[in-house]
Amino acid sequence: MNPEYYEFFCSVKIISGKKALSNLPYEMGLLGAGNAMIITDQGVVGAGLLEHVKAAFDGATQKIGVVFDQTPIDSSVKVVNELAALYREKKCDCVVAVGGGSCLDTAKGVNIVISEGNGDLMAFQGMDRLTAAPKPFIAIPTTAGTGSEVTAAAVIADTERGVKMPFISQKLYPHVALLDPRMTLTMPPRITAATGMDALTHALEAYYGIQKNPVSDSFSLTAIRLINRYLITAVKNGADEQARMAMANASLCAGIAFSNSMVGIVHALAHATGGCCHVPHGVANTIYLPWGMEFNLEKRHEIIAELAPYFGVAAGGDPRAAASGVIRAVRDMRRELNAICKLPLTLKDAGVDESKLEHIAKSSLDDGSITYNPEEVTFEDALAILKKAWDKE
Ligand SMILES: NC(=O)c1ccc[n+]([C@@H]2O[C@H](COP(=O)([O-])OP(=O)(O)OC[C@H]3O[C@@H](n4cnc5c(N)ncnc54)[C@H](O)[C@@H]3O)[C@@H](O)[C@H]2O)c1
Ligand SMILES: [Fe+2]
Repeated sequence: MNPEYYEFFCSVKIISGKKALSNLPYEMGLLGAGNAMIITDQGVVGAGLLEHVKAAFDGATQKIGVVFDQTPIDSSVKVVNELAALYREKKCDCVVAVGGGSCLDTAKGVNIVISEGNGDLMAFQGMDRLTAAPKPFIAIPTTAGTGSEVTAAAVIADTERGVKMPFISQKLYPHVALLDPRMTLTMPPRITAATGMDALTHALEAYYGIQKNPVSDSFSLTAIRLINRYLITAVKNGADEQARMAMANASLCAGIAFSNSMVGIVHALAHATGGCCHVPHGVANTIYLPWGMEFNLEKRHEIIAELAPYFGVAAGGDPRAAASGVIRAVRDMRRELNAICKLPLTLKDAGVDESKLEHIAKSSLDDGSITYNPEEVTFEDALAILKKAWDKE
């Protein structure tokens, strides 16, 4: 059924495939840039991935002005503000993010501050607060999950208050996303599993969310198909380039879907849990996904039932039974990932103290994603999910 009204937007140039990275200086040139600030982290450097980026500049007129390789997990407002000052000091004219969501979102934050010409990121928190044209910005994801390379969102932690803050604007889209198989080959199994489940959560929450539309649905479905076909393979055999590229594209498609149709209660709980208990984003989504789907089953079973063939579940017949079959298949996938790489399936396993559940429930209600959830969510609803997710799979 078509929605009465919808909008869809994605402005990112996508370059995917072997040696996509070698186009980096050329793409910088097309954007009128010549001096890059590279934003990355220690995991990416330790995996030797920066060498591929540096090699791409061999013989090019474009240069690397500065490399910042200390990006913290979940980013930080303080680091963003410091990096914006470094960008100006080194006379850079382009931001290149190389990493997972933490590096990509940090780079988005830096691009906000340098483009708006204001020294403090906090002035732009929330939705549609940006007015200046963004500076040239190229994203090179090294995880396959957040889809941040094609989203209008950045999630940045305020470590002092223990919260993760959203920044949402069309001006946050990178100009170019480069997907190169070499960049995800080194991801360890548990990060591959957790980030892949983040992508699945994006695709699902966008598909059964209140802002679903035919265009974002098609991106969600592609992502769901690829994840079902390739996630387990990528976790079991990280060297499988085909599986890695499929997951990179799945993450990208899911990112395009949710950047337009948004996410729901699973992400609201995951952001709240990440902010106070530092559970990795993909792990938190893995834990909450089946509970969030069950919570929405009453209103959305007919839509979730449409996904049955993608999960190997018998289609047709009673939609409620098919939708329950899809949720069972998601649980089976989590169990398999847990067996392969010990991906946590409960909050207890992820190290969350039971005393934090009320705080998480309260702060999930302040998360913007909650407003896009099909069912309205009360404090009691959130707490009931958290109590189940604490020790049940
Ligand atoms: N902007 C968005 O649209 C969006 C969407 C979802 C999530 N997020 C945010 O993204 C962040 C999570 O990002 P993430 O899940 O990609 O993880 P991450 O960026 O935090 O990286 C996790 C770990 O993996 C390492 N790593 C990354 N790539 C590697 C590789 N190829 N080889 C070896 N190690 C590698 C990193 O060094 C890090 O230690 C969270 O803060 C989350 O809120 C943003
Ligand atoms: Fe996510």
